[in-house]
Amino acid sequence: MTTNNTKLLSVEGVTSGYGTTSVLQEVSLNVGRGEIVAVIGRNGVGKTTLMKTLIGLLKHRQGAIRFDGQDISALESHQRARLGIGYIPQGREVFSRMTVWENLKVGEMLQQPGEGVDYERVYEFFPILRERANQRAGTFSGGQQQQLAIGRAMVGKPKLMLLDEPSEGIQPNIVKDISRNILKLNRELGVTILFVEQNLDMIMTAQRCYVMDKGQITRELAAEQLCDRDAMRRILAV
Ligand SMILES: Nc1ncnc2c1ncn2[C@@H]1O[C@H](COP(=O)(O)OP(=O)(O)OP(=O)(O)O)[C@@H](O)[C@H]1O
Ligand SMILES: [Mg+2]
Repeated sequence: MTTNNTKLLSVEGVTSGYGTTSVLQEVSLNVGRGEIVAVIGRNGVGKTTLMKTLIGLLKHRQGAIRFDGQDISALESHQRARLGIGYIPQGREVFSRMTVWENLKVGEMLQQPGEGVDYERVYEFFPILRERANQRAGTFSGGQQQQLAIGRAMVGKPKLMLLDEPSEGIQPNIVKDISRNILKLNRELGVTILFVEQNLDMIMTAQRCYVMDKGQITRELAAEQLCDRDAMRRILAV
């Protein structure tokens, strides 16, 4: 679907896991510049392992990961972040005892060299982060923490944002807001998005998706198929 020169991320035959156990088995996928792509699959199939492998928290044993024309396989996670990969982990992992402002400042450590910090841009997306700057992040609701986690990643001005189940633990009416924000990041700031999900409303935010099962990519689905809720429910329930 994407030609070589438009690929921002390409993953080729990647095997990865914990200790001696392999979870990902020769996973290959690609994300084109400007695309929104989802990885879906039921619990425990290896979605988080994939995200951790892409950002470099886990080192793959086989295969190659290329980002923006460069093989990043040997790079540490902070180096990958500085090249322009933002990562929003499952469960968000904001620092609950720190203030909202202090949490945002953490994002500065991961920004691309030479790029100024633009908090206005973050506040334009998420006004609450300015309004509640001095509040402890732990007092925020799940949806507000998700805004903070996305805002923190935005500080680093990533070209690619990786989001691991952004809708998890979020009230259904707030899931729509997250979906809208992801679309806005993509359309207005040109951020390429790769996210992991099991929530049908969130999955429809993507332009296409990869289905994962037992550590492997088993199918690729186009946008039209993502709107077929019954088919998607069957895939997620297999
Ligand atoms: N730190 C770890 N050490 C050892 N095994 C792990 C570790 N983390 C995950 N696993 C195992 O790896 C497999 C894939 O887990 P992973 O967290 O990638 O799945 P997932 O698709 O993200 O699941 P979920 O939808 O529940 O978040 C599971 O069998 C899990 O038990
Ligand atoms: Mg997971």
